[in-house]
Amino acid sequence: AGRPLVDRYGRHVTYLRISVTDRCDFRCVYCMAENMTFLPKREILSFEEIETIAEAFVSRGVTKLRLTGGEPLVRRDIMDLVRSLGRHLKGGGLKELTVTTNGSQLARYAEELVEAGVRRINVSLDTLDAERFTAITRRGRIADVLGGIEAAQAAGLEIKINMVAMRGVNEDEIEPMMAFAHGRGMGLTLIEGMPLGEVGIDRVESYLPLKELRDRLAARYTLEKIDKRTGGPARYVRVAETGGVLGFITPMSHNFCESCNRVRLTATGQLFMCLGQDDQVNLRDALREGGLDALDAALEHAMILKPKGHDFVLDREHAEPAVMRHMSVTGG
Ligand code: GTP
Ligand code: 5AD
Ligand code: SF4
Repeated sequence: AGRPLVDRYGRHVTYLRISVTDRCDFRCVYCMAENMTFLPKREILSFEEIETIAEAFVSRGVTKLRLTGGEPLVRRDIMDLVRSLGRHLKGGGLKELTVTTNGSQLARYAEELVEAGVRRINVSLDTLDAERFTAITRRGRIADVLGGIEAAQAAGLEIKINMVAMRGVNEDEIEPMMAFAHGRGMGLTLIEGMPLGEVGIDRVESYLPLKELRDRLAARYTLEKIDKRTGGPARYVRVAETGGVLGFITPMSHNFCESCNRVRLTATGQLFMCLGQDDQVNLRDALREGGLDALDAALEHAMILKPKGHDFVLDREHAEPAVMRHMSVTGG
């Protein structure tokens, strides 16, 4: 195995998020604009290239891979990639292969995911109300997602529901979502909305600091500290009354950059060292033009570029978001 990937601040990179497509069958208001221009297919990395890059990371100490999008499961033949990445779970350095999905294609793929070695997935769901769901996702159908969740559970996948908490949009649904998730043995993770790209909601108005929700919940439930860690940014508690796990992801109010262990590969092979900052390294060109040695040198360079923390700011004085690309470029 190669040397570990360590940045200038001593942080070890052990988690690679791979966006396999910028496309999505939804247009969530906090993620995308109504009309998006997607990348032409020829720009997108082939599965072979993704595998080569993933292997380079695994050989340098990455133990966790997560496929994201857009929506990862809308990429054609996606299971071919999942299966080949899954082979590294056997004996290789890879400990976890997982997916973050909007759930729309889960009914179709749940069993194949399990067969390929995926044990748990994160499903994005911000509301249980059908009309509201359509308003938030602009073109999603909640029945597909609920059916997908059911199929995934039946296939034996452990599920965590991701809910972006938005003031005036779904803040009244925290408890119903918790009842839904915990009642079915799933975790629920609340996320603060982050400002990336021009989207369909007012970021400042809809921003809901999770401390507020946590305090609200703490008045009605017993939130027990637990030291569960999934390798991502969430911090977890157990809700005594439901027995379920509740996570908080607070990039805006309390950033977790200090312990950041991840980098992100886009569908075109750009490596972003931070979700909330613009520096990138072109791994596709390194690989295509210089082969494995150039790829390895590019990873080394990426470690030098990894910033101390993100550039997100949220206030009326900033007319434009600090990060102009959409969330769907890096898959969160
Ligand atoms: P687990 O493996 O379950 O811990 O998943 P995860 O939280 O790493 O991944 P997921 O795809 O479910 O991401 C949940 C949310 O966390 C998304 O909104 C991501 O954008 C956000 N997130 C994950 N990593 C980072 C990070 O390094 N910085 C910021 N700002 N947000 C992140
Ligand atoms: N801020 C926070 N989370 C977001 N997601 C998408 N856009 C944003 C945003 N602007 C979430 C999705 C999904 C995860 C990958 O990122 O809901 O759960
Ligand atoms: Fe698609 Fe996920 Fe973005 Fe929604 S948040 S538009 S489901 S990529």
